[in-house]
Amino acid sequence: MRQSTGTHGCWVRQRGRLYGADMVDFIDGTVDPEAQARGDQLFGQIFFTPDGYADPIPFYQSFLDEVPVHVSGFGGAILSRYDDSRTLLRDPRFGNGDAGPGSAFGSDTSEAGNYRREMFERRKEARPQSMLGLDPPDHTRQRSLVSRAFTPRTVEKLRPRIRELVEGCLDDLAEAETGDAMELLALPLPVSVISEMLGVPHSDWPTIRDQVTDVVASLEPSASLEELKKADAASTVLWHYFTDLVEVRRKDPEDDLLSALIAAADGEDKLTNDEILATAQLLFAAGAETTTNLIGNGLHQLLKHPDQLDKLFANHELVPSLVEEILRYDSPVQLDGRACLEPAEVAGLRFEEGDRVLTLLGAANHDPAKYERPDDFDIARYHGPNPAEPVMSFGSGIHYCLGANLAKVEGQEVFAGLLRRFSKIDDAGDRVYRNRLVLRGLEVCPITVS
Ligand code: HEM
Repeated sequence: MRQSTGTHGCWVRQRGRLYGADMVDFIDGTVDPEAQARGDQLFGQIFFTPDGYADPIPFYQSFLDEVPVHVSGFGGAILSRYDDSRTLLRDPRFGNGDAGPGSAFGSDTSEAGNYRREMFERRKEARPQSMLGLDPPDHTRQRSLVSRAFTPRTVEKLRPRIRELVEGCLDDLAEAETGDAMELLALPLPVSVISEMLGVPHSDWPTIRDQVTDVVASLEPSASLEELKKADAASTVLWHYFTDLVEVRRKDPEDDLLSALIAAADGEDKLTNDEILATAQLLFAAGAETTTNLIGNGLHQLLKHPDQLDKLFANHELVPSLVEEILRYDSPVQLDGRACLEPAEVAGLRFEEGDRVLTLLGAANHDPAKYERPDDFDIARYHGPNPAEPVMSFGSGIHYCLGANLAKVEGQEVFAGLLRRFSKIDDAGDRVYRNRLVLRGLEVCPITVS
């Protein structure tokens, strides 16, 4: 029996439908109207209220306590437990289907939603999907060819250069003494690292950074029509830019990732030219703002928990554990999603083809069934012989983040650099989170260093 309460909170009226048109069922066929309304209210509080932006953790706990398996009034389901999220993301009966990345949000019928779909269809004709939007066997083939070039060795080899890039940002911060750490450090660093890795000439970095910022805004399901149009144009600029650069590297390879992607071959199988371009663009889209948020969210939590900042200054060896704890405590990516590809029963729910499901990664990282004291920010949690469970922030299964190691190395170099260069870090104004749904990060982070 499929039923929905229609008891929508006011955020729903403001936003319209955000995800799947289909209704998921509990296996026993009963949706409790009160629980459904409560789950939708909590979802709205996390993602559309100033309280939720400032601190979603109490809402995560309410989700886990009251509606860990939630069938939304908008269709689709939301899973918040660690084990359920992991199981779902690893289940081959769920994937992208034909809706591409962000498929969990495919049924938005607003003007912006229509533009997004039109843009997606247009691109599908002209450009291949990146691996993020593919299902096996296409995903398997593309990921295996890209991973061949994107090895842990490639990432570790980059560490000294990442340190230099961090030092450059810290020079700017030191000179300013008081400034916005997002603008001076968290925003420029990740784009510079990916540019360096791909072999983009230094003089082009500022242009690339601007275009990437515009493209990433479109990954949010709540992106406005104007943001989508800007992203569309920026994506075309990047596509042409990398078309030219691939041409140059094909004739004259260098020791960079773009040349390695051109060379990556499995027997006779190689990445096509368009797949190389889609991959280059994906690395910026998936690796820039996410890592920016790792840095910003980390600074925010350290400033909010001065005892932990003091502990860090006293013991620099805690940096790797700190980075894990930031990822767990304040996940840069809050949501992941899948579409059902064939009938399946998971977490007490019955799914049919086309049903949508979201996993609330931020909440999974605070699941008391998995973590002791889940709501304590404890920078030593991952230090020592018995590390906690791996964080859910990088997803799970076949789409597990390809850049997880790179992001961690960047985070480690940033916080190690801050400790090396400064003996004091203080806040210097209000820190405000952006009103984003998928990516959670600060708008500004004013700090003083000495
Ligand atoms: C803290 C930083 C980061 C976080 C939290 C993060 C998170 C994620 C998550 C949750 C996924 C899985 C999406 C899904 O299940 O559909 C993903 C996929 C991916 N990420 Fe990251 N990411 C980060 C940094 C990076 C970086 C630095 C890069 C590379 C430059 C990168 C490249 C990718 C790629 C290529 C995929 C697609 C993998 C596939 O589809 O097989 N990410 N990331």
